[in-house]
Amino acid sequence: MERVVSGIRPTGNLHLGNYFGALQNFIKMQNTHSCYFFIADYHSLTTHPNPADLHQNVKQVLVEYLAAGLDPEKSAIYLQSDLPETAEMYLLLNMNAYMGELERSASFKDKVRTQPENVNAGLLTYPVLMAADILIHNAHKVPVGKDQEQHLEMTREYARRFNKMYHTDFFTEPTAFNFGEKLVKVPGLDGTGKMSKSDTGMNAIFLCDDDKQIEKKIKAAKTDLGPQGENTPFSPEIENIFALFELVSSKETINYFKLKWNNGEEKWYGEMKKQLITDMVSFVNPIRQRIQELSKDSEYLSKVARLGAEKAHESGAETVRKMREIIGFKKFY
Ligand code: ADP
Ligand code: TRP
Repeated sequence: MERVVSGIRPTGNLHLGNYFGALQNFIKMQNTHSCYFFIADYHSLTTHPNPADLHQNVKQVLVEYLAAGLDPEKSAIYLQSDLPETAEMYLLLNMNAYMGELERSASFKDKVRTQPENVNAGLLTYPVLMAADILIHNAHKVPVGKDQEQHLEMTREYARRFNKMYHTDFFTEPTAFNFGEKLVKVPGLDGTGKMSKSDTGMNAIFLCDDDKQIEKKIKAAKTDLGPQGENTPFSPEIENIFALFELVSSKETINYFKLKWNNGEEKWYGEMKKQLITDMVSFVNPIRQRIQELSKDSEYLSKVARLGAEKAHESGAETVRKMREIIGFKKFY
């Protein structure tokens, strides 16, 4: 069976971008693949969370994984820090990761630009830690959103490089994966690129949002002045709104509003937003309710995390053991 690995950093509540870019695929793959889904808590240290926030955010992602439909019986659901062999693998891979390529990574350049006061070495070697997460289970496929494509390219390069250096075919070259074939980018509500957690929280719809919050955010979402004639292309703002419709509404609903746009009709954005609110609430509501129930069940969460850690260890420790052997570490005792 093909192996699948993916993770999300615990830096806040999960939103629709995380769901449709990543989680949705995790859920589907559980039945057909051998799956390892983790919470990337080592990765989140680049942002220096305090201990209480770190724990709270890890718990939240664990709860949201389960609420969205990950099944601990089918998949290994674990904390990255519960598989400390990841850190050893990261050290080993670092020896063959070069400064130049790490400095050229788009996400690193982005951080240098946006947070020049905290350009730590963890940020520079972020793609190496990510490669360790993936290669530690020798994954074939990695379900992620479009923004992670370059990191996957780097993982493939590290796998190839190791194989070449040690004349082996030990590592599989993993590929970024999405069921819809193309990797997904869910747009944000403020019309500025992808949905992500922002300071105001108004750019993203979270899986834990209640009906009122969803209504408020969609009402505030950017639109334009209306279609400027018949059969004109969508404006970027309306393109974003339709992208959100595609996630949660039926074909009929989408075609109904598309027709209004194509006919150059006036004054239907109110009706459109109302429909989007209704469909969004129907999608998020059941997940939010499960989030609330699961948050209270500490005993179950601890059972899930322990089972996940065991499964992850079984696979990961063996990979690192073999890797050490290939590199030439030999015991004297
Ligand atoms: P965020 O951007 O909110 O910090 P992460 O970087 O932790 O989210 O992303 C976790 C996963 O969710 C990754 O696989 C990423 O590709 C996916 N993802 C995040 N935002 C989006 C989005 N707007 N569209 C598609 N996928 C996304
Ligand atoms: N870098 C990913 C993100 O920001 C999270 C991540 C860490 C990951 N390790 C991974 C994703 C391994 C897939 C596989 O979203």
